[in-house]
Amino acid sequence: MTHITPPCDLNHRSSNEFPVSKIIAFFSRKIPRPQSGAGKANLFKDIEHLIRLAVVMAIALIAFVVLRAAIVPRSFGQYGHYRGAAIAEIASRPIAYAGHDVCEACHTDIVDQKKLGKHIVVPCEACHGPQAAHANDPASIKPPKLDTAGLCARCHEANSAKPKGFPQVATADHSGGLACDTCHQPHRPKIEDDAKSATGSKK
Ligand code: HEC
Ligand code: HEC
Ligand code: HEC
Ligand code: HEC
Repeated sequence: MTHITPPCDLNHRSSNEFPVSKIIAFFSRKIPRPQSGAGKANLFKDIEHLIRLAVVMAIALIAFVVLRAAIVPRSFGQYGHYRGAAIAEIASRPIAYAGHDVCEACHTDIVDQKKLGKHIVVPCEACHGPQAAHANDPASIKPPKLDTAGLCARCHEANSAKPKGFPQVATADHSGGLACDTCHQPHRPKIEDDAKSATGSKK
């Protein structure tokens, strides 16, 4: 069997070239080289490669630790796997929704209407949008007028994925291009017989 010398020349350089090479040379010389069995020849013959790898990994590790300390926010992990300061930040944001109890305290007439129909289950702000600002200052901030074409269809547009029992219509055919509140009272949407005849609806 012929002994094949690896093409790499690193170990054949002068051992004074790098400081680490001195240590390597020490190990390399101590261990006798058997004449045959190239694989087992000298376990530490190529240790220089391992040391370089270890140095690179050590640098990477230090870089990771330093970068992490610089980048990860101070309060991270204070309460859990998130930024502790985020709680105060979120809590300080202005409140958008007042909740239907607040609306109902002033708009008792609307509640009386809603109680008579199935929209009793739909909270005010599901239709009127976030109105905390209006609830705090009704005189100067008024909720915008709603466009029923988009609003009602959002929940009632016919879709086979919806439960069969949920009232739904193909809005384009159903309304004949009229706004939904031409015929339906938004807070009490069922069209009673007298209302039906009053609007002259065919359905
Ligand atoms: C403190 C009493 C008060 C609270 C709470 C309140 N409102 Fe009002 N709201 C009023 C008053 C008063 C008006 C009439 C304003 C006007 O016409 O000058 C009004 C008007 C409205 C209007 C009609 C605006 C228009 O076009 O005339 C809507 C819609 C409305 N409120 C929805 C809500 C909703 C939804 C809530 C709950 C988030 C709510 N309001 C909470 C007092 C209140
Ligand atoms: C299903 C959707 C829907 C719900 C739920 C709803 N509204 Fe309305 N509301 C409307 C629509 C549509 C109008 C008519 C268009 C407009 O004025 O913007 C309206 C009009 C109003 C008006 C002014 C005109 C009127 O009829 O007096 C007030 C005030 C009002 N809503 C308050 C409320 C309050 C308070 C609640 C909760 C108790 C509520 N609404 C729940 C859709 C809704
Ligand atoms: C946020 C979703 C939502 C919006 C928006 C909404 N509805 Fe409804 N609607 C409901 C729910 C929930 C019911 C009750 C369904 C039930 O009890 O099976 C309902 C019931 C109805 C019914 C059946 C009433 C009855 O007594 O059989 C009609 C008609 C109706 N809505 C019309 C409208 C109209 C018109 C609008 C627009 C002004 C509208 N809805 C907006 C959720 C909505
Ligand atoms: C021309 C008048 C008219 C207009 C406009 C109109 N509807 Fe109706 N709608 C009716 C009548 C009348 C009924 C009752 C039908 C019945 O009970 O058989 C009804 C019933 C419904 C129902 C209940 C269906 C069911 O299966 O119980 C829904 C939901 C509905 N309409 C939604 C809408 C929506 C959303 C709009 C706007 C896109 C709209 N309607 C516009 C007249 C109208």
